[in-house]
Order: sequence, then structure tokens, then C-alpha cells
Amino acid sequence: MTQEPVTEEHRTVNADPTPSATDAAADKLRDVVADRETEGPTGNSTIFGLRGLTVYYADFRAVKEVTADIRENEITALIGPSGCGKSTVLRCFNRMNDLIETARVDGSLTYHGVDLYGKNVDPVEVRRRIGMVFQKPNPFPKSIYENVVYGPKIGGMKGNLDDIVEESLRKAVLWDEVKDKLDESGLALSGGQQQRLCIARAIATSPDVLLMDEPCSSLDPIATLRIEELMLELKQDYTIVIVTHNMQQAARVSDRTAFFTVDVSDDGQRTGKLVEFDVTNRLFTSPSKTETEDYITGRFG
Ligand SMILES: Nc1ncnc2c1ncn2[C@@H]1O[C@H](COP(=O)(O)OP(=O)(O)O)[C@@H](O)[C@H]1O
Ligand SMILES: [Mg+2]
Repeated sequence: MTQEPVTEEHRTVNADPTPSATDAAADKLRDVVADRETEGPTGNSTIFGLRGLTVYYADFRAVKEVTADIRENEITALIGPSGCGKSTVLRCFNRMNDLIETARVDGSLTYHGVDLYGKNVDPVEVRRRIGMVFQKPNPFPKSIYENVVYGPKIGGMKGNLDDIVEESLRKAVLWDEVKDKLDESGLALSGGQQQRLCIARAIATSPDVLLMDEPCSSLDPIATLRIEELMLELKQDYTIVIVTHNMQQAARVSDRTAFFTVDVSDDGQRTGKLVEFDVTNRLFTSPSKTETEDYITGRFG
């Protein structure tokens, strides 16, 4: 359960592994997914529909032609080697790429059937409904209370702010640890608590989706486990899309997993692409693509 994220070092080591090392990697993943469902929760409707989604940074095509359906109240994990476009795709879901001047999105991305990049869609409203949690916990240099009410205040949300604070912190399983020190700085908390505060801050605006970009990569194994448990609770109320470097984490928490990799063309152009998207158990135990098999067994990555 304390498997470290796959690092560049691991990848180099795994570049030419012995058969026993690769078998061990695959066995470990199989153990982790053994008790996961082989079918995703049925009947969950599509919340995001991606059709030929392609993202450019100026002339550089970072990721091409992603087609997938993300379902409500599921945890979807995006995995794959560094630079394959996981964060780029994640940022499309709440139009965070709009904030990058050179970024351009092609193809279509619908949210509840509505074109997310349509003319009448307000990106600010999109980001209220689709919250984001980043790799490094980033509380504002303000009190715990002010961190949580920040979004509701600027959004002019109705309702008692004290109630919003308590409810959000309870949902983030942080309330009991901080209820007597709401006036203290968010920055005085531990890393794991700061990340849960960021989750509470995202929850406070009543979103229906939480995007998480490697939310545990700066946390110790115990704090990581608490965030994973929290995610499993939160999916009752929210749809979660998580980017993770850690395959064990994807295997532990996600309902479905999308595996991305980088295509290198003859002229050396590197473009991210979605290789395989399936129910997590199946992707880790009987992937249909060799590229997926090679990645999860550590032969490539
Ligand atoms: N703001 C940006 N400007 C230009 N290129 C970028 C920017 N962000 C990411 N890229 C490039 O896009 C590709 C995909 O990056 P990213 O989505 O961050 O991959 P991942 O999250 O899978 O590591 C990489 O080649 C990266 O260098
Ligand atoms: Mg990334």
C-alpha cells in the first residue's frame, strides 16, 4: 500500500527488466485490483463526452484525438508516462487551458451534453462546477475559515457561511482536526491536512466534479491513504477525475482507467494519445493493447 510513485529512476531501472521483475510488477497490480469490480457501476450516465479532443500549445500538438466517456459518480484515473498529456487533458475538463495563452483545443468536449467550449458557456461558472485540486497543496495564506469561504464569497453564494465551512470541512474529513482553530492559517497545517483543506475549498462552491492532478505526490503514505479513502467517500456525491503517476493508486481507487502514452513520429514529433480506456480491473489484468501490457508490467514507461 505504500508503493512509491513511478519515478524517472524506476523507469530507467525498468527499461530492461528481468522477467521476474516484470512479472512481480504485474502480480502486485493484480493483487490490488483482485477485489475491484470487473464491470463498472452500471447505469451511470456520461458526464463528459470527449470526441477527437486534440490540444495544441502554439504549433505543438501535445495530445491528439482523445475519445472517451467519463461517467458520473465514478473515479476515473488518467495514467501514463510523463509528458503524455494527462494534465493537458485534465485541464480541458474545466477550461483551465484557457488560462494558458498558447493553448488551443480541437474536437469536442461535452459536459452533461453541452459543448463545454460553446460560445455561451461562462468559464468562471464552469470552474465553480468543476473544481480542481493540484499536485502541491496550495492553501491561500489566509485562515482555514477564509480558505473555505473564498469561493462562495466571490461567487455571491447564498447560505450561512459558517454552515458552508462546517459542511465542507466535514466532507473533506478535516472538521474534527481543525474545528477549534478555524482562525489559524491554512499554511500551518500538515501537508495532508492542507490537501484536505484544498478539497474542502473546492467542495465549498458545490461543484459536481473534482479534478485532481497527482494530489498525493507530495504526501507521505499515511496522508496518501487518507486522501484515497476520502476520494472513495466523495464519489457518492461527486464525479472524480484523477491524474496519477502511481499505478497502485489507480488500481486502488479508480473505477475506470485511461492509459495514455507518447507517439513519436518519424520526424521526432512527440504526441500524447489515449491507448486504452477500460474498467480498472480489466485494464490491469487483461489489457487489450500490448502498449498497456508493457506499461503495467514495467517493460516500458
Ligand atoms: N503550458 C505549456 N506550454 C507548452 N507546452 C506544454 C505546456 N504544458 C504542457 N506542455 C507540453 O505538453 C505535453 C504534455 O504535457 P502534460 O499534459 O503536462 O503531460 P503529463 O501531465 O502527462 O506529464 C508535454 O510535451 C509538455 O511539455
Ligand atoms: Mg502532469
